[in-house]
Amino acid sequence: MTTKTSCSDFVQFFRSWVSDPLRVAAVAPSGERLARLMTQEIEPLDGPILELGPGTGVFTRALLTRGIPESALTLVEFGEEFAVRLRDRFPEARVVQMDAAQLGQCGLFEDAPFGAVISGLPLLSMPPAKIAAIVGGAFETMKPGGAFYQFTYGPRCPISRSILESLGLKGTRIGGTVRNIPPAGVYRISRQNPLEISIGGSKYRSTEGNAGIAAYAPEAGKADMGRPEASA
Ligand SMILES: C[S@@+](CC[C@H](N)C(=O)[O-])C[C@H]1O[C@@H](n2cnc3c(N)ncnc32)[C@H](O)[C@@H]1O
Repeated sequence: MTTKTSCSDFVQFFRSWVSDPLRVAAVAPSGERLARLMTQEIEPLDGPILELGPGTGVFTRALLTRGIPESALTLVEFGEEFAVRLRDRFPEARVVQMDAAQLGQCGLFEDAPFGAVISGLPLLSMPPAKIAAIVGGAFETMKPGGAFYQFTYGPRCPISRSILESLGLKGTRIGGTVRNIPPAGVYRISRQNPLEISIGGSKYRSTEGNAGIAAYAPEAGKADMGRPEASA
């Protein structure tokens, strides 16, 4: 929790965690220090920014502090309780209530407009196929030099080496803080070859249109995407 996080945000967050601990995966919103680390490389010149799992909007506020116009933000949040609050709080941002695993299939971001993706998603509580669908879908929405920023409470990158390699990506730790509940590390995920305009949807997208599943799963058809639509 940050000094700028209001008491009602904390209460909202805690209630959401109680009702759906796997989806929310933290008892309190991220701290200010983590928000700064997550957004430290983002510049207004990057253009539109996509945020996944914004919750109460701690990283969203940090993006605004860095000079990103609110109208350049697209916020993808699964929880209705958070989406309602985000729409109210950031009226010029585009708030989309959906499962981030559908990014590559939803048809909303096909012109790959984004300069970067900031993710507050709880990847550690998601199965590998779902992580592959989210990360692969996110890179489909990004410009060639775009990067995906992810924090984790774990000791290593929350996206496994096999998923990164299957998508032509690499992960680099760019910081960490103990001034967060719990302490967290921050990773930049970027293309191994930024000149590849697409990371090659065929690498992870099945012909049946079930993004991120068949090609990544060790045995096609047995992939576990977790709870459908990441709902409760
Ligand atoms: C650990 S909280 C992080 C919230 C905020 N970014 C922060 O750092 O305070 C995870 C957030 O991701 C959202 N979320 C979880 N699974 C999701 C999914 N599949 N698609 C979109 N949002 C999801 C949760 O509702 C919650 O807002």
